Amino acid sequence: MTNERVCAVVNDVLDAVRDVLRKQQVTFEEYRAAFKYVIEIGEAHELGLVQDMFFNQTVCDIEMQDRQGTRSNVEGPYFLEGAPWAVDGKAKVKGDADPMLIRGVIEDLQGNPVPDVEVDLWWANPDGTYSGYTDELPKDYFRVKVKSDVQGRYSVLGSMPIEYPITTERHGPTGNLIEMLGGQGIRTKHVHQKYHKEGYAPLTTQAYFSGAAYLNEDPVKAVFDDLVYNLKEEDGIPILDLKIVLDPVK
Ligand code: BEZ
Ligand code: FE
Repeated sequence: MTNERVCAVVNDVLDAVRDVLRKQQVTFEEYRAAFKYVIEIGEAHELGLVQDMFFNQTVCDIEMQDRQGTRSNVEGPYFLEGAPWAVDGKAKVKGDADPMLIRGVIEDLQGNPVPDVEVDLWWANPDGTYSGYTDELPKDYFRVKVKSDVQGRYSVLGSMPIEYPITTERHGPTGNLIEMLGGQGIRTKHVHQKYHKEGYAPLTTQAYFSGAAYLNEDPVKAVFDDLVYNLKEEDGIPILDLKIVLDPVK
């Protein structure tokens, strides 16, 4: 059965690729090398990674065209459903993780607090990997769920994320491509967040840290000034204070 949307998008993609082949006068040698490369990405299970690296933020930007709240930002490949709820205001962390308090206040477009928002937070552990994606770390560490209170606030003691290479295989197909493009493959440290409440547009976003390493050379091109936060400190513990604005559902 013909699907009009698939026809529209796929035919445009094919036309765009054909335009590039013509514009760049691609040879058969290059054409076959590109085929071999795409197969390598699949075999290395890096297809999701490449897709997120090049296109995820573009879809976020499209989503923002009719939103006014907090900027939508790449989810990336490491979100997991079913994170544990915070216990006594704490996330489960392990080993040599440095503590960091994550606080948020959630408002609607009119500045009213939004209570009962389900919030997912996840971030890289001190090894620069994500729990559930490494044999060493069960999936309930370094990711947590919290709910906003009547004032739209939440607070959870987690840990300081770390910058990490987006490819575990430095010389895998994605790593090689980043190198050939003259870029670098380390993402600056960040905290991933998802916000969900009926009546509001679901929001997936990230927070970045001012002055952090690699802030201005993100391989995913997803760092925006309005998502970069200055860390505060109370009682010797760094605090990430987030202000989140949710759009109503359309
Ligand atoms: C991340 O932020 O976790 C991420 C995003 C895109 C590609 C790889 C990782
Ligand atoms: Fe990440």
